[in-house]
Amino acid sequence: MPRLFAYKDFAGASEKVRGYADKHSPVIICESVTERDKPFRVKVVIGKSIKHPNAKDHHFEYIQLWNLETLIGEMKLQRASFGDNPVHIETEFIFIPKVSLRLTAMAYCNKHGLWQSEEIFVKVEGE
Ligand SMILES: [Fe+2]
Repeated sequence: MPRLFAYKDFAGASEKVRGYADKHSPVIICESVTERDKPFRVKVVIGKSIKHPNAKDHHFEYIQLWNLETLIGEMKLQRASFGDNPVHIETEFIFIPKVSLRLTAMAYCNKHGLWQSEEIFVKVEGE
């Protein structure tokens, strides 16, 4: 089982260490209420304020979106598609929910491991 990191685990750390956690942590951006059987858009951004390196030996390889234990989708990243400079990688998932959601995003840095977002609850009306 790989170690799993989350920004909240670094709450008491120094500013430098919290910056390290920030630039690795996926953040979910979406509405908190939606309707059943209607396309729902979820954006995932890596890092709130600090850009992550995008070098050949240090970059993100994938972003996943989960509803509890169910994988909704996965974006595989081609590093070169985002240039060579530090970047806030972001992606969107669009899907049709049937029931309320407890969303978590996961992102994998090839140098610093697997990072988890905060869990986001989305109420699906009409379920
Ligand atoms: Fe990293």
